[in-house]
Amino acid sequence: MYEVEISKRKTFAIISHPDAGKTTLTEKFLLFGGQIQTAGAVKSNKITKTAASDFMEIEKQRGISVATSVMTFPYKGKWVNILDTPGHKDFAEDTYRTLTAVDSVILVIDCVKGVEEQTKRLMEVCRMRKTPVIVFVNKLDRDGKDPFDLLDEIEDNLDIQVHPLSWPINGGRDFKGVYLLPNKSLNLFESNKTKKADDIVSIDGVHDPKLPQIIGTKDADKLIEDIELIEGVYGDLKIEDYLSADIAPVFFGSALNNFGIQELLDTFVNIAPNPLPRNTDTREIAPEEAKFSGFIFKIHANLDPRHRDRIAFLRVCSGKFERNKAYKHTRLEKPVKFANPYTFLADSKEVMDAAFPGDVVGLYDTGNFKIGDTLTEGELFTFKGIPSFSPEIFKELINLDPMKSKQLEKGIQQLTDEGLASLFTQEPGSRKFVGTVGELQFEVLQYRLEHEYNAKCRFEARSIHKACWMTGPEADLKDFMRYRQQNIAYDKDQNPVFLAETAYILRTAIEKYSEIQFHTTSEF
Ligand code: G4P
Repeated sequence: MYEVEISKRKTFAIISHPDAGKTTLTEKFLLFGGQIQTAGAVKSNKITKTAASDFMEIEKQRGISVATSVMTFPYKGKWVNILDTPGHKDFAEDTYRTLTAVDSVILVIDCVKGVEEQTKRLMEVCRMRKTPVIVFVNKLDRDGKDPFDLLDEIEDNLDIQVHPLSWPINGGRDFKGVYLLPNKSLNLFESNKTKKADDIVSIDGVHDPKLPQIIGTKDADKLIEDIELIEGVYGDLKIEDYLSADIAPVFFGSALNNFGIQELLDTFVNIAPNPLPRNTDTREIAPEEAKFSGFIFKIHANLDPRHRDRIAFLRVCSGKFERNKAYKHTRLEKPVKFANPYTFLADSKEVMDAAFPGDVVGLYDTGNFKIGDTLTEGELFTFKGIPSFSPEIFKELINLDPMKSKQLEKGIQQLTDEGLASLFTQEPGSRKFVGTVGELQFEVLQYRLEHEYNAKCRFEARSIHKACWMTGPEADLKDFMRYRQQNIAYDKDQNPVFLAETAYILRTAIEKYSEIQFHTTSEF
């Protein structure tokens, strides 16, 4: 059922290292989608201030991302859903989780800086999930790296094969445009930040006698050489290789100058996957199934202290989601109903009546949800593939007011349900270790525990290198957990986790307990 709706949906995320141009590209897409009329209308959800005293400012800025969390627009008969991701590295886990709700990604790389740290990590998550990737090499109006070197850098660092679909003619001040390989035409560059359409010149391949007249003999000769090399090495792109995440098509352009965006967007809506089937703990769910199902991939607190509600973001996986219809919350095994679910159009929210696979719905939540929760029409299953990742910084939660233990307990549970940090509890004594990707979350947690739950606490640094989930024969696991009792804690789903103090200790454990597999994500 709903095949027509499903065939229209393209749900994806734009990912990049901060500053590569994600916000600018998003904005240009919205311009093409007719959702905004002028450049500069999309607020960056980039978190700019990082000083300790500014964490409420950070949360406010993070709040902006609620409005721009999902941007939906129709384009050439398709329905495009862009899921935004926070740029700040401390919120990397938000980004990883958002990637569980998309069917493909566009990766932006700055041609001056090449592959950066955050790009590598994001691609690891994409690889893990076999998410199809299109690469956009941005800022060609700047003097960047040689494009062949960039392709090598992408292949070497991101462990994916590339396939250029456009090719730059020079870069920086001499940037003349790109040659479009599939339709053998030229897209000529003109520095113009408000321009809406590209200047496409039809030529008959690089050997067209018009080419030297248009770009000059020297550049034409170089382009002929480059394109012959590329066509010889790469041949024709097989869409199946892109869809299986083995090959990433590459485009070159300049988001700021709205250059090369249209060909990127047109190719994207043409080849990007429609909503894909998803795995659960019982069976695979196809999007075409008549019955609705979906999962929560993100929870955002309302920052207004007078309204304690939160917004849970639901990705629809099958069937049709309807307003005011009772669904089953499969973890709590209870019915839930939503009077005002909303959809996202550019930067506004609208109450919606129905949503289809690939769509994202905003649900008001008073504390029923945690990340990964599944809603269905009655069948009991849980979507898989929404893993927790090992945090990088670990601290112990210390209660500063014994009279308020209950509040602290509730607060830390709820805030970690939102995905702000990971919580590991050690028994006996109920010691709580909180793990995050960045320092910022500790400040946000402490502030929110005090202001929203009236609980005073502090965090004490603990030298823990990694949290590892374990699989293996039961006897070995039991033996290991007894031997390493001091370093075992339990995650929110009561799974035992080994909190390895150092890389050396982890290595020794791996060597000594060769039957046990140690994983740095909660799903393997
Ligand atoms: P992000 O979301 O990935 O963090 O990046 P964002 O789009 O905010 O872009 C980061 C900076 O790079 C911005 O400059 C933006 O204008 C610039 N930029 C984006 N695309 C291009 C491009 O094609 N060419 C050039 N030369 N610059 C580009 P900024 O100075 O940080 O901000 P702003 O004052 O321009 O807004």
